[in-house]
Amino acid sequence: MTTKLFVPAFLIVGLISLGACNPEKLPPSDEALESKAEALAEQKIEEGKKIYESNCAGCHDSGVSGAPKPGDKEAWRERIAPGVATMVKRSIEGYAGKTGVMPPKGGNDTLTDQEVANAVDFMTVKLK
Ligand code: HEC
Repeated sequence: MTTKLFVPAFLIVGLISLGACNPEKLPPSDEALESKAEALAEQKIEEGKKIYESNCAGCHDSGVSGAPKPGDKEAWRERIAPGVATMVKRSIEGYAGKTGVMPPKGGNDTLTDQEVANAVDFMTVKLK
């Protein structure tokens, strides 16, 4: 009868010591998670910059028809008020504004929604 008790007790001791021998398996710290999120955000903006340069800069660098220039606080102030998500939606679907027309996806429908969103992030990142 003693063997039945002995086995589970041995298992429990085994599990505890396994855990104790594995300090590196602790969940990642907040700091580690934050720097990962930052790295991801930077990567998106880096990708957005490339999208911007080949699809959006033609209008947005010169500000033709009132296209807001990247980082131009004055030009973005009112636009950014409803939120970046709204601007992303307008950039994907296109819209006619007060001064001109923003074509859907800047006229390149091979871009994914995410790529357009990254480009908008790049255009507005210097405002923060
Ligand atoms: C053919 C010229 C042209 C191209 C190309 C273009 N845009 Fe625009 N965009 C405009 C104009 C003009 C406006 C301003 C329209 C207005 O508000 O009167 C505008 C406005 C915007 C806005 C402000 C939206 C808002 O809510 O006010 C964003 C964001 C934007 N464009 C993103 C992009 C992105 C991203 C690309 C590239 C994928 C791009 N644009 C390519 C002409 C262009």
